[in-house]
Amino acid sequence: MAAWSDSGRENPQPCRDGDNGKFELIARDGRARIGKLHTSHGVLETPALLPVINPNIRTIEPREMWDRYGIQGLITNSYIIWKHDDLKRHAMEKGVHDLIDYPGVVMTDSGTFQSYVYGDVEVGVEEIVEFQRSIGVDIATMLDVFSRPDMTEREVKEAVETTIERCETSLKAAQGVMLNGPIQGGIYRDLRKQSAQGMGQFDFAVHPIGGIVPIMEQHRYKDLAKIMLSTIGDLPPERPRHMFGCGHPMLFAMLIALGADLFDSAAYALFARDDRLLSPQGTYRLSDLHAWPELVPCIVHHTPEEVRKMGDDERTNLLARYNLEVTLAELSRCKQAVHEGTIWQLAEQRSHQHPALREAFLWLTTRPFSSRISTDVIDDLILDDRSAARDHHPYGGIWEDDWSNIINMQTPRRKKGERWGGEDTRSRPHVLAARRQLHRRWKPMTSNRCDVLILNGKPGPWRQRCDLLVLRLKHVLPDLEIFVQTPLGLLPYSLEDLNPFAQVDGPTWLWKRRLNTLLLRQGLQRFNVDADRIVILDVGQESLIQKASSLLIKHGLLKDEIIVDDEVLPVLRDHLRRRQIIDKMAVLLNLDYEHATSLVDSCTYIIGGTGRVKNVIDKKGRHIVSPRLTDGGLSMTDLGSKAIFELRAKLPAEGEEFNPNSGRGEGPPVLVVNQDAVEFILRGRNVFHGFVSACDSWLKAGEACLILDEDGALIGHGIAQCDANEALRFKKGIAVRTRSDFSKSMK
Ligand code: GUN
Repeated sequence: MAAWSDSGRENPQPCRDGDNGKFELIARDGRARIGKLHTSHGVLETPALLPVINPNIRTIEPREMWDRYGIQGLITNSYIIWKHDDLKRHAMEKGVHDLIDYPGVVMTDSGTFQSYVYGDVEVGVEEIVEFQRSIGVDIATMLDVFSRPDMTEREVKEAVETTIERCETSLKAAQGVMLNGPIQGGIYRDLRKQSAQGMGQFDFAVHPIGGIVPIMEQHRYKDLAKIMLSTIGDLPPERPRHMFGCGHPMLFAMLIALGADLFDSAAYALFARDDRLLSPQGTYRLSDLHAWPELVPCIVHHTPEEVRKMGDDERTNLLARYNLEVTLAELSRCKQAVHEGTIWQLAEQRSHQHPALREAFLWLTTRPFSSRISTDVIDDLILDDRSAARDHHPYGGIWEDDWSNIINMQTPRRKKGERWGGEDTRSRPHVLAARRQLHRRWKPMTSNRCDVLILNGKPGPWRQRCDLLVLRLKHVLPDLEIFVQTPLGLLPYSLEDLNPFAQVDGPTWLWKRRLNTLLLRQGLQRFNVDADRIVILDVGQESLIQKASSLLIKHGLLKDEIIVDDEVLPVLRDHLRRRQIIDKMAVLLNLDYEHATSLVDSCTYIIGGTGRVKNVIDKKGRHIVSPRLTDGGLSMTDLGSKAIFELRAKLPAEGEEFNPNSGRGEGPPVLVVNQDAVEFILRGRNVFHGFVSACDSWLKAGEACLILDEDGALIGHGIAQCDANEALRFKKGIAVRTRSDFSKSMK
């Protein structure tokens, strides 16, 4: 047992021998993640803020950071320690943890920032890393070359290349100590990519994004977003990404959504010295305040007036605590949002706090290509800041792939309804991902060229309101395709309960859109439907069948009123159910329509209390899938995974590049585990990273997958926690949450 410190907070436990430097993911929301970095001074849970400690001026004692604030890691500057003889002697004799009296994870910087502020530094590339190692830091930093935003492209290129040239020497000097490999590249997309790819080749533990301090100081948040977009996707996913010098809580949500794991900042202390207060809403001056923007524990017994009257040291100290507490609270909100799958929603809310942040957010989410993806739901009558941002976008399509990768990493479905937050809601990345999945995988039943009926005007559930109408229509017009107009876009009627489309938590007028046939036609084309005639039925209180009859007659689709003998209704209902299951198999499990149809052929159903299908039983009597009530999804059973796997033609090659759009119609992606893991998976245990030997390129976090042994036999199924790029790269953590237990079900 570790000793208790004076105040009662236990010192951290060192990680297990083989785990030092490993990073594992606990939860994620697309590119945003909750992780754990394992070190010999405990676990650093991410996203985390590493407060900057100046060993000469300690506004808040590091010990208090540990004891009172639960801060698991901090950053100090090895160059400052190296330059001061007394600090250097102490650190070399007793270690950096003793020098600053802190038991947690200590990261040190190398002096690069000093070179940016003061010109050159006197220390050598090898020397500064050796020094950091010798004083026992947990994560050291190599001496990178700072790239300023005002540098020419040639100068920045040189900074990037010189930094890369220094990697080998630096890593050798680190002798296995975790090392930061900073990414430079200024505001040049290609140079950021070159830096990320070049640095990523070396064995660094963490990749800080460097050269961003002046960009943040100048509030150039759009440039910051571009830096993130161009860099993160090119870094090895199994390493944490650190934002060098970023500690303003207003930026956390957007940066975490774009993939940041670590932040460091002296802002809490520097702003305090200047009588300024940090907050997720922006920065406040103490002189302007009548009440506290956030009521945090350190301030509850003081009014702003009282604090203004305090002496300099007392005031600075109190405001530094205030800033730290507010910053930590925002980080905690961000973590909760990642767990809930709402980090983009939080970024959306924060974007309103500063015009430059709003500009960055709109630039990300409303660029011309993203509007192309969502034309079917963008109402040309909406003239808000979103459409204005689209019109003024100067960059064309060069960012298309980078943004597309963010969308591709999103799990389309959420456990809860989609909370409406204005027009931004329509282009939340997971909504775009859901739409993309639908457009790519859903197909009209008979022909691409068909008549279409659009149900408009009311929120779901539509089955209660419209099932009888749909059944009758299918009898008289078997080729008619029926869609529902949701606030998030068109939804095939067969998928009427699918999250997020069907579960929008907002005012009912959202469902009463004035529909424009031209836009509808374009929207339908994304579903591969070349609509002959489009009929819009406003679902109101009146008799739907009569209303639909007269509309369809008016448009020439029908000659007479819809009259269907009640006796045929059970058969029609059976057809509709079959279609619903087939469409869900195609969209959610990536099955080819032919395969899905053959699986569902002669199926029977167990119907639940609400009249909905509970279980689907195939012709061999196997319970294969169950529709989920919560999100309109489809859960595979163990026998279902077997039936689905039997349709699979070929096995994956090792380490395929992530491409969620590949393998169309080939079923859920497959992940192969090595022999050591097989007996555990068969008993329902999760698949851990380190035991994965191959996977399909369309393996995606949050989606169902099949688990095979190396001989190609099915041993389980579950929900992937990683994508194809990550499956083989991470060495710790859960790769698949297994949902099966073949030791019981396959007896
Ligand atoms: N601190 C703030 N920015 C930087 C950077 O680009 N490199 C290093 N090493 N430290 C920093």
